[in-house]
Amino acid sequence: MGNDLIQIGSGVPPGAAAVVAPRAPEFSPAIAANGKSFYIETFGCQMNVHDSEKLAGVLMARGYRPVETHDDADIILYNTCSIREKAAQKVFSRLGAFRKSRRSPPSGVAAQKIIGVLGCVAQQEGEKFFERAPQVSLVCGSASYAKLPELLDQLESGNRRVKGLDLDTEDCFETEFTRRDNRFRAYLTIIEGCDQRCAFCVVPMTRGPERSRSGAKIVADCRRLVDQGFTEIQILGQIVNAWQDPSPAHWSFAELLGRVAEVPGVCRVRFTTSHPRYFTPDIVAAIDSHPALCDQIHLPVQAGSTPVLARMLRGYTREEYLEKIHFIRQSRRPISLSTDIIVGFCGETEQDFEQTLSLLAEVEYDQVFSFKFSTRPNTSAQNFADNVDEEEKGRRLTVLQEAQRQIQWRRNQALVGETFEVLVEGYQPRLLQAVGRTTSNRVVNFPGAPEDIGRYMQVKVTSAGPNSLVGERIAI
Ligand code: 5AD
Repeated sequence: MGNDLIQIGSGVPPGAAAVVAPRAPEFSPAIAANGKSFYIETFGCQMNVHDSEKLAGVLMARGYRPVETHDDADIILYNTCSIREKAAQKVFSRLGAFRKSRRSPPSGVAAQKIIGVLGCVAQQEGEKFFERAPQVSLVCGSASYAKLPELLDQLESGNRRVKGLDLDTEDCFETEFTRRDNRFRAYLTIIEGCDQRCAFCVVPMTRGPERSRSGAKIVADCRRLVDQGFTEIQILGQIVNAWQDPSPAHWSFAELLGRVAEVPGVCRVRFTTSHPRYFTPDIVAAIDSHPALCDQIHLPVQAGSTPVLARMLRGYTREEYLEKIHFIRQSRRPISLSTDIIVGFCGETEQDFEQTLSLLAEVEYDQVFSFKFSTRPNTSAQNFADNVDEEEKGRRLTVLQEAQRQIQWRRNQALVGETFEVLVEGYQPRLLQAVGRTTSNRVVNFPGAPEDIGRYMQVKVTSAGPNSLVGERIAI
């Protein structure tokens, strides 16, 4: 194994053996190195992770070289997340720590680094960032990334206060080169921004309006990705199923899924995140008829009580959401379901919370991402009383997570003895184990070798925990 290995898997417990996976081969645009280096730290969602891959592509196409630490970089970019208060604070603590460590720069370290703040916190704070963190030279929200080359020109010519904060854009952020962090799974954005107005959510204010890319372009991208060796395509959008083909072909979202799945060489297609409001039976029909579409749907419910859903402006009732679950469960495929839940939203009573617990018991998700509500700037929930206290939010979160843990454990136990195809995504050298993922997005650890990475293998499940499976490879 060479030094092209990167750490993957946020689920690796501290102290556990590192999981390593190869990075996609560096593209080598015929561009001369400019002698400068960059480092990007990414916070938040997969959209941000993929934006950083594209940002890296923009920089490398201008001759910048990627490095693995702040210390070695001439330009440091923080791609930030403001979905919850805690996430937003992270960049300020990074900047604070960085300022401290710069008081006495070690000899030989360039004194003049360029620091840029990108993404949702950049958009939210805007120019105030320059006051709050004077060491920052670039502030740019995701809706302005298409202007990045122009902003870099300004920085390169010595301007020390450069910003891209327009939200009223029709641009999607498409790059000639993208530096992909995984050699087998490629993210592919089909729609940017968000037009929903969920009461708790800052995204429409930080990512701008919905902009869909044309279906034909998306399929052409997939063909190129297959040529480069990718076999799994992960289709991304803040509300992925709000995608509307801007071209005269007017494919529906379900049709697009089918077209992507039919690209020769594509073995797996996932898509995230779907909004229940736009989740229609034709999406399930597409999964039923295209084996490459994975057995996995992420469908955030946020709460199990209709009055809370109404205050959240989600656009569906508990019953309407459960109807969607019902038609998903009618699929011929054993579709695995995951969701997002917020506990302690404004005015959530104990009875409301119990409705969320009963929804979990009824749906039996395979994975739940759960969060304590925190008020975000410029959202409509800012005008409601955030009246569930922190301690109670914490209690509800613990109760919910424990209930879900039991559900997951039970569901995973039921898979012992079954055989699944996994795509091997990583390898744990200390445990001599390969780490694979099933079509239903379950992680399976099994004895393997580093060369297994990127291969599809049949693995029989021998034991199960709440968060992952253990198995052994079987020959077929
Ligand atoms: N407080 C807590 N959680 C939030 N989310 C979005 N906004 C907030 C907020 N203000 C959660 C939702 C969303 C996920 C990405 O983050 O569950 O689906």
